[in-house]
Amino acid sequence: MGVLPVEQRKVLTTRLEELRTKALENPEEFWDEHARALEWFRIWDKVLDDSQKPFYRWFVGGKINASYNALDRHVRTWRKNKVALVWEGEDGEVRKYTYRDLYVEVNRVAALLKNFGVKPGDRIALYLPMIPELPIFMLAAARIGAVHTVVFSGFSSDSLARRINDSRAKLLVTADGGFRRGKVVPLKEIADKALEQTFSVENVIVVKRAGVNVNMVEGRDFWFHTLMEGISRSAYVEPEKLDANHPLFILYTSGTTGAPKGIYHSTGGYLVWVYWTLKWAFNPNDEDVWWCTADIGWITGHSYVVYGPLMHGLTTVMYEGAPDYPAPDRTWSIIEKHGVTAFYTSPTAIRMFMRYGNHWVEMHDLSSLRILGSVGEPINPEAWEWYFKVVGKGKCPIIDTWWQTETGGFMIAPTAGIDLVPLKPGSCTLPLPGVDAEVLTEDGAVAPPNTQGYLVVRKPWPGMLLGVWGDPNRYIETYWSRLPGFYYPGDYAMRDEDGYFWVLGRADEVLKVAAHRIGTMELESALVSHPAVAEAAVVGKPDPIKGEVPVAFVVLREGFTPSVKLEEELMNLVSETIGPIAKPANIFFVRKLPKTRSGKIMRSVIRAIVKGEQNLGDVTTIEDPSAIEELKMIVGNSRSQ
Ligand code: WTA
Repeated sequence: MGVLPVEQRKVLTTRLEELRTKALENPEEFWDEHARALEWFRIWDKVLDDSQKPFYRWFVGGKINASYNALDRHVRTWRKNKVALVWEGEDGEVRKYTYRDLYVEVNRVAALLKNFGVKPGDRIALYLPMIPELPIFMLAAARIGAVHTVVFSGFSSDSLARRINDSRAKLLVTADGGFRRGKVVPLKEIADKALEQTFSVENVIVVKRAGVNVNMVEGRDFWFHTLMEGISRSAYVEPEKLDANHPLFILYTSGTTGAPKGIYHSTGGYLVWVYWTLKWAFNPNDEDVWWCTADIGWITGHSYVVYGPLMHGLTTVMYEGAPDYPAPDRTWSIIEKHGVTAFYTSPTAIRMFMRYGNHWVEMHDLSSLRILGSVGEPINPEAWEWYFKVVGKGKCPIIDTWWQTETGGFMIAPTAGIDLVPLKPGSCTLPLPGVDAEVLTEDGAVAPPNTQGYLVVRKPWPGMLLGVWGDPNRYIETYWSRLPGFYYPGDYAMRDEDGYFWVLGRADEVLKVAAHRIGTMELESALVSHPAVAEAAVVGKPDPIKGEVPVAFVVLREGFTPSVKLEEELMNLVSETIGPIAKPANIFFVRKLPKTRSGKIMRSVIRAIVKGEQNLGDVTTIEDPSAIEELKMIVGNSRSQ
């Protein structure tokens, strides 16, 4: 079970406790020492500047470069010929890049970006499938100090346009198309639509992947392979010596309003955090073949497909397609083929594999695995046990990592790289050194054991976001106002009698659908943009595989009537405005939404009805109780169908 006998606990946790105590009691000394694991061009003047709270700044005065720490450091050593990146296409094609190969390509692309006039601080948007060019462009941008904003290739043209406009990206890199389940996703076509709504993009670089016909705008759009013909393999671009707080990237994520927010991270603090969290949680070594299955369009891919593993000189695996395509054993065949030793995925994927059945796993020799990880949503004990026994054969610890886009890297996780605390299925265990996490009640007191409360982080940590791009107030309001002085991640959690953390899900209007973060307000604003829709409310419904799925309640305007066609139209509208991953599982047409007398939609009541709960909470302020009856009936009918 991975749970160690009690008498071993004390001995084993000493080192962890020592590090945690040191990091919290004397953070400046602790981080001054630990940050030196990376290579800096200049050492900082101050470890932590907290004069502009909550705009904490780490390693102030330090100079560093991400691409240099990921590549140049290794090409000077024996690792030069070590495989840095193993890429597998959905069609089975494999490409391998040594550290030297990556270094060569990144330098060439950095030269290319410079030719396009990209300067330090300029934003470039990357709308690419999971192909090697994506990390290459990220590292090339980082090399010259350009800020990358990667847009998940499953997002729609509207979502892409919004991100380009908010970040004012001057260059867009995309592909003709990407593969998903054998089909081509026409990325350039989607990008073209987005570009009709943007004003900042001057040029588009198009990577040929799918071999489909695309429209190329003369003078604006260029084929990547043609451009690269003009750049020598010996091109060298001096890495910019960037300020520690120079933004490395912006990554948009859903919050509680209709518009996603641009979370932006530093270079120095972020890299230090990603480096140490990976080390502490997974204890990587030079024999590891590391596979994090996340798409690079999300934070997990940024930190633990690209920057973390490369800084550690690991071999990182990247897979282009669907995890169960063309057969449910695709993931296991990749582990066997490439000898993956460390495997990091989401509970949704685990539950899906579990449902396919053990035989798909048992067809493959997974004996290379030494450690497993989980991320993105709470893992239920049943899925944990299955992962542990069937995938890990009872010998691989499961590192359940709680963290967020905003935190840059892991925050609460078991520490195989320090001492491994006894594991409990479903708990992410204890905070990493430097993380002052706690669970608080509504009024800010520490919640008693086994009581649900709000997860908070009471002290700044090096990987924390610099802010919300272009919106400092939103940063303060979202993260530092709920429980003043503390960082508020928006999650419910509790601690058990051993102090272990159990993250229970979101405490706000954000859903985790198949581990993807989706704001219900984004869905609602997409729905109400349809001329037939007067009002919409979206809530999460528990789902046995995806964790939760959105369900929408829609009130139509006078003169419109519910129909299957309208339902389809609304589904398509969500797909086009946000992306297919945000599609509601159901759209219910209702006469009325439950509202308070002051006109506020009672989401908690809707949520309770969707979950089939008997107790709907406080409904005394409701304006019209018949709305509840209607919802109950409609939801009940859909269940019995
Ligand atoms: C949830 C993903 C429980 C949580 C890295 C958090 C988790 C949100 C876990 C961030 C976990 C992530 N256990 N819940 N191990 N990891 N979450 O920004 O609700 O996409 O706030 O970052 O995912 O999602 P994001």
